[in-house]
Amino acid sequence: MQLLLPQRRALADEELHDLYDPGDSPSLRGGFVVTVDGGIAHDGSSRPLQTPADEAVFHALRAVSDAVVVGAGTARTEAYGPVRPRPAGAAWRADRGLPPQPTLVLVSRSLDLDPGGRPFAGPCVVVTCEAATGRERFPDVVVAGDDEVDLPDAVRQLHERGLTRLLCEGGPSLLTAMLRAGLVDELCLTSTPVLVGSAPSLLTEPLERPVPLDLLHLLAGGDGALLARWAVRR
Ligand SMILES: NC(=O)c1ccc[n+]([C@@H]2O[C@H](COP(=O)([O-])OP(=O)(O)OC[C@H]3O[C@@H](n4cnc5c(N)ncnc54)[C@H](OP(=O)(O)O)[C@@H]3O)[C@@H](O)[C@H]2O)c1
Repeated sequence: MQLLLPQRRALADEELHDLYDPGDSPSLRGGFVVTVDGGIAHDGSSRPLQTPADEAVFHALRAVSDAVVVGAGTARTEAYGPVRPRPAGAAWRADRGLPPQPTLVLVSRSLDLDPGGRPFAGPCVVVTCEAATGRERFPDVVVAGDDEVDLPDAVRQLHERGLTRLLCEGGPSLLTAMLRAGLVDELCLTSTPVLVGSAPSLLTEPLERPVPLDLLHLLAGGDGALLARWAVRR
């Protein structure tokens, strides 16, 4: 891989953790892979969009986070399981005294989730609202909001648990709601060298106003992917 901006140089995979370290302040970043024509899935899955460089950044983003936050739709379609860092990420976490695994946070209004399913084989918190029935089926639940999930309240409650560096892996419905609530600090987007034609895009609804972004860095994956870290301008 090569770092292209802010200065051009070769980059080893192990350096990715420091490059994507969000620092100690609470932050929420989105991590997505997007095709050149703006699609985020092919046949309902983002897997065909991934390249080796995207996978390396995907795992680095996870390793430097306290929690991976995902909508139940993505957890269902992408068959989510516990977040297990690769060896380099595990070593990075151990050096900093972080727990071995980031917590998986599932956001769901319906609670159409299997409490015996793969996500619950590791640290996993379900975020839902008062109106959701069947909450007692899950070992660890954050209740935020009455009829709908109140995302700012949910993020506040995650912070209270020490989960302050949050990575939102989607999907587009959840990312859009997070952006509309003003909760997103960064977007880490892989532009992947493929076209998919008609497909869901990064956001599901128009935003009230354009959200300006500042480019923090840009990598060339060496496999055709371009990997950008954007900050949401406040
Ligand atoms: N390219 C990428 O990087 C990437 C990343 C992620 C996903 N994807 C793709 O995106 C597609 C899924 O998109 P999606 O928009 O359906 O995903 P999603 O946002 O993960 O799922 C929507 C579901 O998540 C829950 N949810 C989301 N926002 C919520 C909110 N504000 N409050 C309460 N619950 C909320 C709800 O679950 P309940 O129905 O349980 O209430 C909702 O039905 C898949 O094809 C996946 O492959 C691509």
